[in-house]
Parts: sequence; structure tokens; C-alpha cells
Amino acid sequence: MDSASPSTRPLRKAVLPVAGFGTRVLPATKSIPKEMLPVFDRPAIQYVVDEALAAGIEHIIFVTGRNKGAIEDYFDRAVELETALRNKNKTAQLEEVELSVRAPGTMSFVRQQSAQGLGHAVWCARDIVGDEPFAVLLPDMLMMAKPSCLAQMAEAYGKVGGNIIAVEPCEDPSSYGVIDPESREGRLIKMKGMVEKPKKEDAPSNLFISGRYILQPEIFALLESQKPGAGGEIQLTDAMERLMQNQSFHALEYDGRTYDCGDKIGYLRAFAAYALAHEELGPKAAAALHAALAVKRD
Ligand code: UTP
Repeated sequence: MDSASPSTRPLRKAVLPVAGFGTRVLPATKSIPKEMLPVFDRPAIQYVVDEALAAGIEHIIFVTGRNKGAIEDYFDRAVELETALRNKNKTAQLEEVELSVRAPGTMSFVRQQSAQGLGHAVWCARDIVGDEPFAVLLPDMLMMAKPSCLAQMAEAYGKVGGNIIAVEPCEDPSSYGVIDPESREGRLIKMKGMVEKPKKEDAPSNLFISGRYILQPEIFALLESQKPGAGGEIQLTDAMERLMQNQSFHALEYDGRTYDCGDKIGYLRAFAAYALAHEELGPKAAAALHAALAVKRD
């Protein structure tokens, strides 16, 4: 396949890499996976799974590591808890507990034995993905969007095919990976490259790569031979740059907002934003946050 005929094969599978150590949010992540930290009333990972399902994804592949068993348990039945809730007629709570359980066979878990980088984590899913396009969702990035960020990307994929990356404008490109745009049509940007943490004055754009990708399976062969890059890790962006030499890449400036839960202040922002956006409890959350700020000022 070359850039003249980008693949539009259906998108059915999503890879969620969850094998990192989450060192920027220690000590909270010493014994709890970062992805299980609550963002208001549910673990962060639930929002990301919901985003993928809203885009029509049929099969979710988690790339896990040691000490990540809580993620697997969360997506399984909690038989004792469910029985107790049923016996006490706590129907609403029972429904909430059952929400995370998907049809048997629609979630897979594969282990990355040592955290060698995001590119390596994605490569660990190669056999389960097989020879078809797939999405990658970084679970520490929460995208607040309607339709979901991946749903917007899937729509763009239906039009142009190939590889699609979600981007969002930022004030300071020097702390992110940003895209080098070639041409733009509405929110869809044809890419000619990517630059990791450019100096502000040299940045080819202010559009940072925010953690959602639709990739063609040819990336796996490139990841297999990918040499360690920044931080001594196998970087997904390095393999994507190589794939870009013979496949088309578009960036989608999706309509929504990214919350980076990977560090403490970003996590706080996400927690507050999702509390405020909660359909039922949002107004009470706003009052509680105002009250907390007032106490802080005294
Ligand atoms: P991050 O670098 O943001 O996550 O990787 P981290 O390594 O957990 O965080 P810090 O830097 O130590 O605080 C983005 C995503 O890729 C996964 C992480 O779990 C995270 O969801 N990842 C990263 C892996 O699965 N394996 C790796 O080797 C690296």
C-alpha cells in the first residue's frame, strides 16, 4: 500500500497501553495502576474505554504489566459485590457496577514484561491486532468531546483512510510533540512530519499530538526493528515517522479538550472538569469547589 491509495479497511480494534509506572503521580501509583485513579466517580480508564466504544470499536486490547491486575478485575464481574447489591435491592449501584462488563471475548490482555516504551507496548499487541487497522488510545489522556474524540477520528478515517492522529492547539509547543502540516481542509490536516519538543520559534505548528492514533498494521514491522530513541525507549513516533515515508498521515484537530492525567496538576484539572461536567452532580460539584477555594483564601 502507498500514499496514493490509503487503506480504509474497517476499524474494529483498539490498543490501550497501560504498562507504564506512572512515576509522575507517585506515591498514589505505588500500588494502584495510574489508570485506576478515580476521575470524579469512575476510574480514568473507564472514560477511555467509553470513548473507544462510542467510536464503534468492537475489541479492546490492554497492554498491561505487573501490578496492573486491578484493571483486569475492574472489567470482570464482581460476583460477591453484585450479589450483595442485588440482595439489598440497590439497583442503581448494581447497574453502575455492571456497566464496565463487556460481552465475553471482546477484551484481551497482553503483558509487556518490561516497560521499554510506548512503541514497544503497542508492538506487544501485534498478534491480537493482526493485519488490520487499529486505534491506540493513551489512557492517561482524557478527551472531553462529543462525539468522542476517536469517533471524530473514525469519521475522518472513513473519508481519507491511512493513518490519523488527534491534535490540539497548545500555547507552548516546546513541551510536546507537534505536527508539521502540509495542507489543511477544515479540521483535517495533511501531515509531512512530526517534531518532538521544538523550540517555540522553530515549531512548525502549535498542534500537539494528544494521544489518539489510528494506525495501519504495517507499523508493527517497523516497531519490530525500531531502535531505542528518546529516553532509551522504543518510541511510537519514531516508527510513525518511518511509516510516513510511504503511507498517508492526517492530523485531526478534534472538537473537544484534552486533559493530561499523567501528572499531578493535570490530574487535578481533569478531576475538577469531569466533576463539573457530571450530568447529575455537576452543580453540587461546582458549589463544593467554590467553597473549597473560599476556605483556601481565608
Ligand atoms: P507515559 O510515559 O505517559 O506513562 O506513557 P508512564 O510511563 O506510566 O508515566 P511516567 O512518565 O512514569 O509518569 C503513556 C502511556 O503509555 C503506557 C503508559 O502506561 C501510559 O498509559 N506505556 C508507556 C506502556 O504501556 N509501556 C511503556 O513501556 C511505556
